[in-house]
Amino acid sequence: MIIQPKTRGFICITSHPEGCAKNVQNQIDYIKSKSPIDGAKNVLVIGASTGFGLASRITSAFGENAATIGVFFEKPPAEGRTASSGWYNTAAFEEQAHKAGLYAKSINGDAFSNEIKEQTAQLIKKDLGKIDLVIYSLASPVRTHPETGVRYKSTLKPIGNTYTNKTVDFHTGEVKEISIEACTEEDIVNTVTVMGGEDWQLWIDKLKKEGLLADNFKTVAYSYIGPKLTEPVYRKGTIGKAKDHLEATAFNITDGLKDIKGKAFVSVNKALVTQSSSAIPVIPLYISLLYKVMKEKNLQEGCIEQIYRLFKERLYLDEIPVDSEGRIRIDDLEMRDDIQEKVAQLWKEATTESLSEIGDLEGYKDEFFNLFGFNFDGIDYEKDTNEMVSIPGLQ
Ligand code: NAD
Ligand code: NA
Repeated sequence: MIIQPKTRGFICITSHPEGCAKNVQNQIDYIKSKSPIDGAKNVLVIGASTGFGLASRITSAFGENAATIGVFFEKPPAEGRTASSGWYNTAAFEEQAHKAGLYAKSINGDAFSNEIKEQTAQLIKKDLGKIDLVIYSLASPVRTHPETGVRYKSTLKPIGNTYTNKTVDFHTGEVKEISIEACTEEDIVNTVTVMGGEDWQLWIDKLKKEGLLADNFKTVAYSYIGPKLTEPVYRKGTIGKAKDHLEATAFNITDGLKDIKGKAFVSVNKALVTQSSSAIPVIPLYISLLYKVMKEKNLQEGCIEQIYRLFKERLYLDEIPVDSEGRIRIDDLEMRDDIQEKVAQLWKEATTESLSEIGDLEGYKDEFFNLFGFNFDGIDYEKDTNEMVSIPGLQ
């Protein structure tokens, strides 16, 4: 079929298999152009199909020659209907990994469930024996609790007061004010239940109980802090409470891994265009200004550059550098004073008229469509392409 982008609200409901393959290939090429990492040999990535998780899987495979198992929740293709981009990304990743002689298998299902944890544990046991790194990179708006069956929904709301600020509809370029009403107590509980650390802990407990964690095992989950500007809706909002919980969970997990000298870390990553971040109000405007400033200073990074730096310059050093809260920071460039001062100044000036000048709205849009395999040079989007792509190592 001929596949063109089709958007609904903030998301794109079609994706292009060859474009997704191109996106993956670009990331593989980047990693191959860098010096190798002496790190993990067997890696499990939970949330492995897009964004930071995909970059983590690519870095593990092509940067350290690791065997990888990826867990994700993606929509397979049907005749006349495209798969979700994470499906095509994974198909392309596995094809390249297998060509390079690397073990790569995948599990598509709800990572929050006991069944998927069990299936993953059995696969590790059968094929790999033990693993030495688990990357936890889930971003989900809902979680069905495995014990109670209750379905929790996360929210992106401020706590205490209504928050009013500018935002951009990046599809139209319109900058306007939005007001987000303060959350309820229940919203906080729900968001912490979905995006906090409970499920990460359950994963590691399960794998530990089954004897599947190697000595010196490491696990990393991803967090975000960001500027003052977005604090009410991000770090001091409902999602921030979930991130606080995730960060606290790292210490609990480490406590339970003493006998194998295992350690859990949270890495604070940079703001980037992903399917998840596009859905957060205010953040797209911040990102489009941030990109402009970081590109001007030659400091811009995408997911793959971020994760390579995490592995190469943080995770596998003898002494892992952390901040006063014990977190790994790869948001150091985003948070630099000169960058933040410039973004704060541009923020005040941002209007529908000025944004295309002072912000990187084009860059934002381009990256957004790239997530779904669109806007890549060298791909003929008028041409018929086969949507029925399968993932070679899908279990
Ligand atoms: P993403 O939407 O690109 O990736 C989410 C992944 O989770 C996908 O692989 C998806 O298939 C998987 N997933 C979602 N629900 C699932 C389920 N129920 N079962 C199995 N898999 C499921 O998101 P991302 O932006 O890469 O976010 C990953 C992590 O990084 C999140 O914790 C996010 O908060 C954090 N982070 C993101 C940013 C950013 O700006 N995007 C910055 C810092 C930290
Ligand atoms: Na991810």
